This record gives sequence, structure tokens and C-alpha cells, in this order.
Amino acid sequence: MKKIKIAVVGVGSISGMHIKSYLADERVELYAFCDINEERLKYMGEKYGITRLYTDEAEMLAALPEIDAVSVCTWNSAHAPCTIMALNAGKHVLCEKPMATNVEDAEAMMAAAKANNKLLMIGFVRRFGRDADTVLDLIENGNLGEIYYAKAQNIRRNGAPGGWFGDKSRSGGGPLIDLGVHSIDLVRYLLGKPRAVSVYGSAFTKLGNRSDLKVKKSYTSVSSKGACDVYDCEDLATAMVRFENGAVLSVEMSFSLNVGKTENSIQLFGVESGVHMENEVQVFGQMNGYLSDTSLGRSTGLDVDDAFMKEINHFVDCLCDEKTVCRAPAEDGVELMRILTAIYKSAECGHEVTL
Ligand SMILES: NC(=O)c1ccc[n+]([C@@H]2O[C@H](COP(=O)([O-])OP(=O)(O)OC[C@H]3O[C@@H](n4cnc5c(N)ncnc54)[C@H](O)[C@@H]3O)[C@@H](O)[C@H]2O)c1
Repeated sequence: MKKIKIAVVGVGSISGMHIKSYLADERVELYAFCDINEERLKYMGEKYGITRLYTDEAEMLAALPEIDAVSVCTWNSAHAPCTIMALNAGKHVLCEKPMATNVEDAEAMMAAAKANNKLLMIGFVRRFGRDADTVLDLIENGNLGEIYYAKAQNIRRNGAPGGWFGDKSRSGGGPLIDLGVHSIDLVRYLLGKPRAVSVYGSAFTKLGNRSDLKVKKSYTSVSSKGACDVYDCEDLATAMVRFENGAVLSVEMSFSLNVGKTENSIQLFGVESGVHMENEVQVFGQMNGYLSDTSLGRSTGLDVDDAFMKEINHFVDCLCDEKTVCRAPAEDGVELMRILTAIYKSAECGHEVTL
């Protein structure tokens, strides 16, 4: 069988997860790397034995017309230009989250996919988590009943990744667009993808990226220079999102916060029971007139490596068989950009914004 030739554009920190997953898939040939940072490109080429290395995507696409698909793992502001260029060259694209830094770019990306009749999948990796599969199974079997309230929290005390992450011109925003995109998308996905009708948001820039602290961060951009990094994004964002079916989602996302307990959880509250997704899935309900707390065990918790493997595997499934329905299509990326942009707008104007 002819192998699918994949190029990775942007070979920074997260590209490692894409690369690892492609290397594990026999249907794929990891074919070329592209990065504007020549030193990083050389390092990644040597690490993975890739010799087709380019500092310019246009040059790579012109030189290697045999490429079938591209993973776009650049910083956020380059997602739209890099994705559109690949689609216009006739390649399928898996683009990292967030889809773009604004709605117009996201819509242009989706239009380019349609015009070229190519797949554009968005890297909503949390949809492929074991916790998501478990909760979806519970929901589909009626265990939660009507879900009317949800809470999504990703609270870091000292978790700004540095580099471009705090530079609004390249990231489009702070923890809301970086972490919130995952959480809001996952809640929307689990709820059956209802449309958001209004949002109320607030954003604060008080602590910055805390590059003065001596403590190691959990995740660092390869472009981080520490104290020299620009930081003009929010470091805490909160929001209420109201969906068309009446359900409401409360969101709290931080890179930096003087908080005792860090948190990365999603909670869904239904009339039959509620679930808490963190290191495992827990279910809170009632049994025979008593309140019951059930842990579904560690095997239902999110395993990031496994989720990336499943995400990439699904992308390749879609490329191998065009009848496969993509689980993270471009239109969901556009909808998320609409929600995120509306939250930033609400934070700026100080009142509710309707979508
Ligand atoms: N799915 C997830 O859980 C997850 C986790 C982390 C990051 N991400 C996303 O992945 C993307 C990359 O994040 P990262 O942490 O790897 O950042 P990073 O800074 O470590 O790497 C980004 C790389 O992109 C390169 N780049 C920028 N513009 C380019 C262009 N036009 N052409 C080629 N290369 C270019 C940079 O030189 C850099 O090497 C971001 O969009 C981020 O939001 C997703």
C-alpha cells in the first residue's frame, strides 16, 4: 500500500506529539519538516532522521508536490496562512488548536478547505481522551439526564509557557484562547454541539508570565527567552456561556494566579447525575434514597499521549477513507473562535455579548 506522506510545519514543543503518533502509524511516511527557526529545524531533523528540511513552507510545497498532508503546529497567528497555503497546494491539513486568532481567519481557512475539496481537521485533542469517551458513553446511555450546567476550570498558578504564548500578536490571547479552547470545545462536544447564544466574560492582566519566579514551569514554548518575553495578554479569564438549549457553562482559565489548589477539570451537572472529569471520571448521583459517589477508576482519566495517538490515528483514518466522518471538523473550530472572540469582546466592553 502507498504510504501517506506527511509534512510537519512548525516543529516546536507540541510537534513532538504529532511526530510520535505518525511514527507509530504504518500507513504514514513522515516525509518533511518546516520551521522558520533553522536551529530548531536542524535539531528536530537529526532527532527524527528527517532530511527534507525547509525554512519556508511555500518552498517546501513547491519542491515536494508528492506531500499528501500537513500538520500545522506553528504559533497561533501562523495557523491561517500556513493552513491556507497547504490547502491551496492540494494538501489535507491537521491544524493545531486554536484554529486561528480571529473568526475571519478561521472562516477563510474553512473556505479554502471547501474550495480545494480537502480535509481540514482541528486539533481538538481532548475529544479523543479516554475521559471524553467515558462521559460520552454515560450521556448516550441516559446516565446524566438533561445537562443544564457545566463548569470548566484550568487553573495554573505559575503556568505561562513563555515565548509567543503571552505575545498577543502571535497568540491572539492568553489562557482563554490557549487552555479555554480545549475546555469549552469539550463541553460543547459532550453536550451535542449546541450553538452558543450569549457570553459574559472578564479578563485580567495582573501577574504576567511570572518569569521572575525560580520555579520550573510545567510546559515551555521552545521560543521562550524567560524575562525577555513579551506579555500583553490576560493571565486570568472567566466567562459564562449560554447555549441555545438553555444550558450554561462557567469557565475559569489562568496562566498565573495566587491560588492554593491548581485545577484542570470539567464538571457536567445533569438531572440524573453529575460527572467530574479530572484524573478519573467520578459520577455523583443517588441510589435508593441515598447520595452516591462513584469513581469509574484511573483507566477513565485523561492520558494525553493516548489522546494524541487517537487524534492522529483518526486524521489518518479520514485520509485513507473519505467516508470516515471527521470528529473534529473545521466548522467546530470556527464556532469556537466565535465564542472565544465574543468572550474577549465582553471582557473589553463590560457587558454580555450575543452571538
Ligand atoms: N493540543 C494541545 O494540547 C496543544 C498543546 C500545546 C500547544 N498546542 C498548540 O500547538 C501550537 C504550537 O505550540 P508549541 O507549544 O509547540 O509552540 P513552540 O513555540 O514550542 O513551537 C512553535 C514553532 O512554530 C514555528 N513557526 C512559527 N511560525 C512558523 C511558520 N510560519 N512556518 C514554520 N514554522 C513556524 C516556530 O519557529 C516554533 O518552532 C500552538 O498553536 C499551540 O496552541 C496544542
